[in-house]
Amino acid sequence: MTVKVKANANIALVKYWGKREPKLNLPAVGSISATLDNLNTETEISIATSGNDEIIYNGKPANEKEYGRISNFLNSFRKEFGVKDFFSINTINNFPSGAGLASSASGFAALAAGVNKISNTRISDRELSILARKGSGSAARSIFGGFVEMKTGEGVDSHTDYAEQIAPANHWDLSVVILVTSGKQKKISSTDGMNATAYSSPYYNSWISSSKFDLYEAKKAIKQKDFEKLADVTEFSTLKMHGLAMAARPGIIYWNGTTLDLINEVKDMRTAGSPVFFTIDAGPQLKIFTPSENVTKIKDHFSDRNGIETIIVSGIGDGVKIVE
Ligand code: PMV
Repeated sequence: MTVKVKANANIALVKYWGKREPKLNLPAVGSISATLDNLNTETEISIATSGNDEIIYNGKPANEKEYGRISNFLNSFRKEFGVKDFFSINTINNFPSGAGLASSASGFAALAAGVNKISNTRISDRELSILARKGSGSAARSIFGGFVEMKTGEGVDSHTDYAEQIAPANHWDLSVVILVTSGKQKKISSTDGMNATAYSSPYYNSWISSSKFDLYEAKKAIKQKDFEKLADVTEFSTLKMHGLAMAARPGIIYWNGTTLDLINEVKDMRTAGSPVFFTIDAGPQLKIFTPSENVTKIKDHFSDRNGIETIIVSGIGDGVKIVE
């Protein structure tokens, strides 16, 4: 039997940055994201007969780093649920991997749902989000569609930190225009960046204490479909996260020159009355949110621009699905 799963990536509006407990991947702060319908991972899983996990990643045998991360996740799944099988996995992303476009979010959400199905462990969506979180913090959010909140608990209990839907995909007709300024793999992974920041950035404690209010405001803005408010809190959370990382020692800068030019341009466009705001994850890509009716105009505005390699447009998408 082969199980085929499809999971969408998500983009954070209120950012997750920092781990309360690195081993269990417990986030230090809650976060809020939108699931995207056009950036996804498709994963096929069957039971391996070789006595090892077999992993094909984007059409090639997984390299050591990719294999290690995925098989660690599978080991923790086997241990927790008493599963004995090894898996044969073929996983493919329809967008650049490891470039700050949330490929680990869609990747681990698909994997969690896939192993749950093929091993018949029948866990709830909440437990699935806890499982996906162990692969990548942001993957917990990709289990659900629409607008999603990742909750943090306290202490070192794995079961207090999971995602929940705030509103379904059709709640608010927004789209995202993703300006890819470099499809290359980032030099510093999110995990390394977070750990270095927690260890050395003098702003880390203020980041944690100020995040609760960001979550409150973003949730309210989403429920009330208040674009200006969501723009304000999203850009605040984005720049705060990057400022925090830049203040690590040595400083971590995920942007390039084009990212900075685009930040200024989006701000100017909004001041001039255009309904746009940006967010940036751990990479140099700018993601512009806008009402869907505006999306072609925004895409055309940035096409043929020096420094932008590709433009990807996406709507808000659904949660993880078993396709076959
Ligand atoms: O899920 P991770 O470990 O790749 O971390 C994601 C971190 C950010 O994308 C920068 C922020 C977020 O909330 O997704």
